[in-house]
Amino acid sequence: MLPCPDEIRTERLILRRWREDDLPHFARLNANPHVMRFFLKTRTRDESDAEARWFAERFAVDGFGPWAVEVPDVVPFAGFVGIWRILRQMPFTPAIEIGWRFDESHWGKGYAAEAAKSALQDVFLRTDVPEVVAYTTKQNEPSQRVMKKLGMRYDPTADFDHPAVPDRHPLSRHVLYRISREAFVETGP
Ligand SMILES: CC(C)(COP(=O)(O)OP(=O)(O)OC[C@H]1O[C@@H](n2cnc3c(N)ncnc32)[C@H](O)[C@@H]1OP(=O)(O)O)[C@@H](O)C(=O)NCCC(=O)NCCS
Repeated sequence: MLPCPDEIRTERLILRRWREDDLPHFARLNANPHVMRFFLKTRTRDESDAEARWFAERFAVDGFGPWAVEVPDVVPFAGFVGIWRILRQMPFTPAIEIGWRFDESHWGKGYAAEAAKSALQDVFLRTDVPEVVAYTTKQNEPSQRVMKKLGMRYDPTADFDHPAVPDRHPLSRHVLYRISREAFVETGP
């Protein structure tokens, strides 16, 4: 594995390591019920800070991680996008996941897909990770659209009930998408 870069620049974005001054912005996004409508609940400031710190630590642990996303000349922190090893036991683990969450004011601009493509490219070209998965609740169509734009394939045999969501909760049923390094490189990063 080659060393992880400090940042990745895309056409419109900077994917960078987390900073302390990202925390209040991340907390505001995590406290917004509309942003969090496909999660069980919004996050308190402490929960949000803990999540950001866990994300920030992934880079040292795994050599890749979820990046803070900056839109230069627009906003220092719009959300996060990146890749991490799933620690919870799930029906499809062990696995490495890609995920994203942006503040509502930055939806509908193609930022999530642009950042995610570069994050995937970095991991597939720099590390020996063979496959990346993404999962979300069945109702989360915006997130599944991002997965499809990346060339990820829905695995219809792999729908599952999320172990942390109560039985028969409307958000419990989840879908799984996958992409291998071969498929990503074939379709052109
Ligand atoms: C999931 C989430 C990141 C998707 O964000 P998004 O902005 O809709 O996704 P994209 O970056 O792909 O941008 C999508 C839209 O930007 C539009 N767009 C505008 N300008 C664009 C440009 N220059 N380039 C590309 N797309 C552009 C596209 O038309 C596209 O619309 P479409 O998806 O209907 O085709 C966002 O809804 C979110 O943060 N949700 C809350 C958290 C969440 O659910 N996270 C996932 C949990 S699994």
